[in-house]
Amino acid sequence: MPLHIVRNDITAMKVDAIVNAANESLLGGGGVDGAIHRAAGPELLAECRTLGGCKTGCAKLTKGYRLPARFVIHTVGPIWRGGGHGERELLVSAYRSSLELALEQDCRTVAFPLISSGVYGYPKDQALKVAVDTIGDFLLANDMTVYLVIFDRAAYTIGSRLFADIAAYIDDCYVEQHTESREEEYRRAMAFACAQAAAPGVPEGLNQAVERLDESFSQMLLRKIDEKGMTDAQCYKKANIDRKLFSKIRSDVHYKPSKPTAMAFAIALELPLDQARQLLEKAGFAFSHASKFDIIVEYFIAHQNYNIFEINEALFAFDQSLLGG
Ligand code: APR
Repeated sequence: MPLHIVRNDITAMKVDAIVNAANESLLGGGGVDGAIHRAAGPELLAECRTLGGCKTGCAKLTKGYRLPARFVIHTVGPIWRGGGHGERELLVSAYRSSLELALEQDCRTVAFPLISSGVYGYPKDQALKVAVDTIGDFLLANDMTVYLVIFDRAAYTIGSRLFADIAAYIDDCYVEQHTESREEEYRRAMAFACAQAAAPGVPEGLNQAVERLDESFSQMLLRKIDEKGMTDAQCYKKANIDRKLFSKIRSDVHYKPSKPTAMAFAIALELPLDQARQLLEKAGFAFSHASKFDIIVEYFIAHQNYNIFEINEALFAFDQSLLGG
């Protein structure tokens, strides 16, 4: 899964590079800057002194010293002054410059804090959106695994209206009792489809649908990619799935993916709810109203919002696992 949103202390992350939310002097400070310098040891400051500072929106690289990470990429986010002074552009630039620097160093894994969302006062939900959108765009064109490290839950909220909307949807749909096992659900769905097919005067469309009953998940996925005019890479990147997993699904016609993976492809293909259900059935699953995870994903499909990073933000806000491989 190329973009993970995790709760952690960035100084503990065992990745190729962690990103520091520094100030233009690069001579240390509080917040994550202070934590990184404390964990890396004095050699980090000594190297920073040789860099001659860093302009807002730019990034510079040092070694990681005593950190588990090999490198530290120091970037400077904008100070929030109400939003009318190019803050968003500067924040996008800070993420982009850091990612490009990581690419130049052949980093395969990078961890970011939520830049500017602390001392610099950038509203947290807007800071998160900029981070997710900018990193997400970069990952559509580059193979890298990026961790967005949220230090404390308070620092992490999705828009309150969206949160309330989803909470209401969960209330409407969530049922306490457990649904049948996945095999029973699958058997039920197949029995229904066969009964429909045997009925007299079955409309043409349903005959085709029944012919596809024995179509596997992998076959339906590849058919849908073709129907949408997408490339394989466009699809699995939009699904936030890594290339290796996609190759497994592509090469094994009977491959059964996990439920989050099947859902992630339904999102990437922007399938309407009925087709998303069909794709899930091919993997032996069904949307369950006994699962908040399923209800949240169903909410976004029902509202035709297929932005997988926004869906993952919402899943994270509701303490659910994330979509993707
Ligand atoms: N791991 C991960 N994230 C952390 C950690 C940590 N150990 N410590 C703090 N954070 C989070 C904060 O919760 C916040 O969401 O990092 C985010 C960025 O907050 P700041 O560190 O305050 O950085 P920023 O808002 O960009 O302000 C930069 O603060 O520390 C000074 O020298 C720095 O002057 C610069 C300014």
